[in-house]
Amino acid sequence: MEKSRILVIGVTGNLGYQLAKASLQYSHPTFGLVRETAFSDPNKANKLQSLTDAGATLLKGSLEDETSLAEAVKQVDVVICAVSARQIHEQKLLIRVIRQAGSIKRFIPSEFGSDPDKVQITDLDENYNFYTRKAAIRRLVEAEGIPHTIISCNFFMSFLLPSLVQPGLQTPPRDKVTVFGNGNIKGVFVKESDVAAFTINAVADPRTLNKVVYLRPQGNVYSLNELVETWETKIGKKLEKACVSEEELLKKIEETPFPGNLQFMFIYSAFIKGDHTYFNIDPSSGADGTALYPEQKYTTISEFLDTLL
Ligand SMILES: NC(=O)c1ccc[n+]([C@@H]2O[C@H](COP(=O)([O-])OP(=O)(O)OC[C@H]3O[C@@H](n4cnc5c(N)ncnc54)[C@H](OP(=O)(O)O)[C@@H]3O)[C@@H](O)[C@H]2O)c1
Repeated sequence: MEKSRILVIGVTGNLGYQLAKASLQYSHPTFGLVRETAFSDPNKANKLQSLTDAGATLLKGSLEDETSLAEAVKQVDVVICAVSARQIHEQKLLIRVIRQAGSIKRFIPSEFGSDPDKVQITDLDENYNFYTRKAAIRRLVEAEGIPHTIISCNFFMSFLLPSLVQPGLQTPPRDKVTVFGNGNIKGVFVKESDVAAFTINAVADPRTLNKVVYLRPQGNVYSLNELVETWETKIGKKLEKACVSEEELLKKIEETPFPGNLQFMFIYSAFIKGDHTYFNIDPSSGADGTALYPEQKYTTISEFLDTLL
């Protein structure tokens, strides 16, 4: 693989740390833009130390500091941003700096979820702008003519799967389980380290240029009924099932205070509306990521559930 100089913004975060590790594992010269405050947090300082030990170059700066952004962008070919969902709109200055530099071969904005142009929960999202902000950043990147790739990986495995999609639980249930909707709609869970490895594979690939790349590995696409059945087989026991209808779930979203209701909203999107899987990938604007790198292995849902036994 041709080596790219890769800047990751958000290396102290959940996904950003995995992205920097994957970039280093593939032997790309790897840079992290780090806020000054991160160095005094013991957990973050440990992450930063392990990245520098593995060869990463850390640059001090932030998304609000134009000088630090311009300095960092000047040193690399690829910029991957992994700031949290709350900070999506804070990428605007970075996008301007990338456009002004004119040298970035690929920008991966912070998205890493369901496709905001496809999700069918516009009414619900009105209160949170979770997807509208991600879509607005896409439009800005397109309008600025910045070479880019969007990673649409659907759910991370650390989100909802550790509880078998049971909001409020920390571990999968062993007696009773709630199934939302008819339980037959399929959603996708991909482990963060696999999302990161995939992203690093995609950064210099002409097949992913200006495309939305979707991850739907075969062992990672499950309905709620399939999840429950798989778990029942693993624990050797049938669970008592309660059903929550679409109407009841909508009521829960309305009645549960923010941010607790977000989990219900994401369940509604994935397992009632089918937002991860209802559409075919349009080759003019998207690509099936799972087919691009046959050598890449994905931790399957079944393997992940084994770790919870
Ligand atoms: N698909 C899913 O299930 C799922 C789940 C969660 C997240 N996501 C997506 O994954 C992406 C990354 O989210 P995450 O949860 O991994 O994020 P995270 O853990 O909250 O990490 C955010 C990172 O951004 C850095 N940061 C924040 N503000 C910054 C600024 N102004 N300048 C520079 N750096 C800044 C933070 O640095 P400090 O250490 O300085 O704070 C931290 O390293 C987001 O797009 C999110 O929507 C997807």
